[in-house]
Amino acid sequence: MRIDYQLLPESERKMPPSSGENLGFGTRRTNHMFLMNYADGEWRNPRIVPYGPISLMPGAMCLHYGQTLFEGIKAFRHADGEIYTFRPDKNAERSNLSAKILCMPSIPVPLYLEALHRLIDVEREWCPTLPESSLYIRPFMFATQDALGVKPSKEYIFCIMLSPSGPYYPGGFSKAIRLLVTKTFHRAVSGGTGEAKAGGNYAASLRAAEHAYAQNAAQVLYLSADNSQIEEVGSMNHFHVRKDGSFVIPAFTDTILRSITALSVLELGRLGLIKAREESIKIDDFLKDVASGEIIEAGGFGTAAVISPVNEYLLEDGTVIKVGTGEIGAHSRALYELYSAFQTGLQPAPSGWLHKVEHYV
Ligand code: PLP
Ligand code: COI
Repeated sequence: MRIDYQLLPESERKMPPSSGENLGFGTRRTNHMFLMNYADGEWRNPRIVPYGPISLMPGAMCLHYGQTLFEGIKAFRHADGEIYTFRPDKNAERSNLSAKILCMPSIPVPLYLEALHRLIDVEREWCPTLPESSLYIRPFMFATQDALGVKPSKEYIFCIMLSPSGPYYPGGFSKAIRLLVTKTFHRAVSGGTGEAKAGGNYAASLRAAEHAYAQNAAQVLYLSADNSQIEEVGSMNHFHVRKDGSFVIPAFTDTILRSITALSVLELGRLGLIKAREESIKIDDFLKDVASGEIIEAGGFGTAAVISPVNEYLLEDGTVIKVGTGEIGAHSRALYELYSAFQTGLQPAPSGWLHKVEHYV
């Protein structure tokens, strides 16, 4: 499909952030976005246009029934001056899985990748180089048909926007966070939308997150609906490190988002670079092992969060359980450094992980 360019004249473009600027996460926008419409059973009119408002009918179904999905991807500028996206094919595939779960149309993976690479190509100077910063890419899709019956929309918009960003949590890797372990709030049930990156999952997580913030916790650790197993964090996958140095993540089920970061860590395990595995983890065993020192490190994995160490778990009865020494652990640090080196090109990444952004224009 031919992607149409409707670019702003140079004189009307905003300047990218200066190289030393403290960016925060997700606050800045670039000059352009990608848009594409779905109607009559096909994707149409793929285009790169100035970033700005999108007009919708008040009856657009996304506004009523929340039929929306999104992804989060990162691009990095390497020492050769070129920009590389990190495993965007995995996000395109997961977006199609979310679409299936939410009765939305899929997008051919090559079209998805071309759209995001062409958009990044026109915004090259927006890719930051500061440590812990990247060009964060947010592809998303939403239902636009003007109809009030509860059924899948027949029309959609797919959009990609870009945001030069720093770390997700303000302190970055070196500031460990506290998690609230909740038995009151749940993120997903089997047969629901937990495995999808559905907008509604995040709307449903806000109330729990507010409870966490009120208790100085950065996020909630969600358990299975019967409160027995660890599932994931509000915006990250969860991991812990055992005394033998192995990384353990909760076994993927249909209530856990298939974290590309966690799946990449498991791949590093298969490549023999670290010890990593997935397994079902009972919350009671986990807390006991943290308290006894069998578990020495813990944290979250995610595109935005990268690797975010957790130094304490707050239980709903007020008990605080500290992890290890409370300092950032050596295993988490080594993995963070290895993973970041792959992303930023300081060390050759496993085959197929980095996708170079071609010079199209
Ligand atoms: N779990 C949830 C609920 C998330 O929002 C995210 C973030 O994308 C993750 C896990 C981590 O997924 P990924 O590593 O693909 O970014
Ligand atoms: C990401 O890690 O890219 C996410 O989408 C998490 C988030 C909700 C900011």
